[in-house]
Amino acid sequence: MSSPKQMPRIAILISGRGSNMRALIEAASQAKFPAEISLVLSNKPQAGGLEYAQSHKIPTSVIDHRRFEDRETFEQALDEVLHKAKIDLICLAGFMRVLTPWFITRWQGKLINIHPALLPSYKGLHTHERALADGVKIHGCTVHHVVPEVDAGPIIAQAAVPVLENDTAETLGARVLAAEHKLYPLALQKFLKKNFDISQKSDPNSQLISV
Ligand code: GRF
Repeated sequence: MSSPKQMPRIAILISGRGSNMRALIEAASQAKFPAEISLVLSNKPQAGGLEYAQSHKIPTSVIDHRRFEDRETFEQALDEVLHKAKIDLICLAGFMRVLTPWFITRWQGKLINIHPALLPSYKGLHTHERALADGVKIHGCTVHHVVPEVDAGPIIAQAAVPVLENDTAETLGARVLAAEHKLYPLALQKFLKKNFDISQKSDPNSQLISV
């Protein structure tokens, strides 16, 4: 059943603690937010974020990838649940499964992700360690469209943070994560304004958000 306000219906896909999911749920709970979080879906039954979503009365679903013989059958199950829930847009938030071109093509233009680095630098894993090893002075995070090549889709918004003298991967990672929590809701609003026919009541941010 579609929502009474006919707002875009968002699914957040997680695999773990879900702190970005939480930031999105908090933002979407504001009356002026132009979409609703209609589903939180995890590929891991023990993902910490599920409990938070349930406590906020958001429907959750677990599709344990280990129960499927290959990526495509797992993704077919995922796709079916998303369609049944009438999802318009998917936000990946720490979803630790690489999606196949089959799934990405089906959701093209409706699938976004947050990555803990200033893309196109530091695609992939261990971004904070690699940024420190390179001695960069600016690091950050990116919300981007998902395309078949990993972490290579068009950029929607970025937030930059300084790298400080005595940073470790943990301290830098915590600074980036705090920036992610501000960036993702803003980037999502920007995306919604551009791609869905909604009356924008909130204040979308600029391309670069420095925090
Ligand atoms: C975040 O750093 C996100 O950028 C990356 O995975 C992490 C997920 O953290 N894709 P959380 O589950 O949102 O706390």
